[in-house]
Amino acid sequence: MKTSRLPGFYKLPIIERVKVVKDFANLTEEEVSLLLNTGSLPLSLADKMIENVIGVFHLPFAVATNFLINGKDYLVPMVIEEPSVVAAASNAAKMIRSGGGFKASTTPPVMIGQIQLTKVKDIEEAKKQILAEKDKILEIANEKDPILVKLGGGAKDLEVRVIDTFKGPMIIVHLLVDVRDAMGANAVNTMAEAVAPYIEKITGGKVYLRIVSNLAVKRLARAECIVPKEVLGGEEVVEGIMYAYAFAKSDPYRAATHNKGIMNGVIAVALATGNDTRALEAGAHAYASITGRYLPLSTWEVTEKGDLKGFLEMPMAVGIVGGATRSNPLARLAIKILGVKTASELAQVMVSVGLANNLAALKALATEGIQRGHMKLHARNLAIAAGATGELIDLVVERMIKEGEIRLDKAKKILEELKRERKSIA
Ligand code: MEV
Repeated sequence: MKTSRLPGFYKLPIIERVKVVKDFANLTEEEVSLLLNTGSLPLSLADKMIENVIGVFHLPFAVATNFLINGKDYLVPMVIEEPSVVAAASNAAKMIRSGGGFKASTTPPVMIGQIQLTKVKDIEEAKKQILAEKDKILEIANEKDPILVKLGGGAKDLEVRVIDTFKGPMIIVHLLVDVRDAMGANAVNTMAEAVAPYIEKITGGKVYLRIVSNLAVKRLARAECIVPKEVLGGEEVVEGIMYAYAFAKSDPYRAATHNKGIMNGVIAVALATGNDTRALEAGAHAYASITGRYLPLSTWEVTEKGDLKGFLEMPMAVGIVGGATRSNPLARLAIKILGVKTASELAQVMVSVGLANNLAALKALATEGIQRGHMKLHARNLAIAAGATGELIDLVVERMIKEGEIRLDKAKKILEELKRERKSIA
């Protein structure tokens, strides 16, 4: 009987773990070598990043072109499995470039650490005590990270909130920590844990959770752009995009997809640079519903001249030091290709890419639809999978699109026909 109950699995050398999985899933030698083909992330390194490692998973690594942000040119590394996203980002960045490029900014890199205080007798009194002891609490927090403090970061302030829950009222202390160039979750969690006993002591309450909030409203990134109407294809396209935006603004079903298009760009850069994609997704969607209604993260308007103006603001908790940004050699390389010097600069690039992907999606949706571009790439992949090489790839693609049938069996059939035609000519 197969069992996934494998005590001590985590302690085995990687190769032994692979043997266990090989037996469990009847893997062939070829399949095992796929797992162990690690490329630029050595197994020994991967094994230190997470637990129970049995291989390294690969995704395409691309660069988006044409990005001009605050007057500086960037080649933007993107890691993603979905066709068209990189092409869309590059195309949109080209249009935005003709309107002067992106203007991007960030707030200081301040993350929130939450400390959940329960079971206090007098909520108002406890609140006062915490605020009165603010300096001491910040001091305890900062003792935990003298290096961050030396770099100009550290715990800077705190806020005290009272929330009503089905377990009664609770005090939620927000520790506001400037994390400089780190993503910051580790620094914040350490500080939140460090101050909890003191908060319990001064209030007589009981602390349960001490953890970073992914709704990073103090760490926002913003990008805006103006796209000349001629570049977009005229007034009609601008109008179509405004209709698309109106739809998203009034319908959460559409807003979710609108925001997904933004995250296509944001997450691809996050993956390339070794950042925590789940933290970004959580922050983005929580921010999208911060008013109580789920809204599009970007806004679009028409300027007096009839051009299109876009704006995107969202939490952007990303780092360029610590975690996988440093341990994964390809993530380090991505940061070098980007040439960003601070986490805030990385956040500015990412919010710009999000806006670019949003523009590309809205333009395609408001005009020819997204399937045409998608299908071309899809058809190309199918042609290659069918065995086409060299110029035959494009010929197979063209014929599949012309005949409106984009499937592997069709690609194979066309390829055979083309080969026969060629033979008969020769
Ligand atoms: C597909 O990955 C993303 C889009 O659906 C985004 C959108 O609809 O705005 C095209």
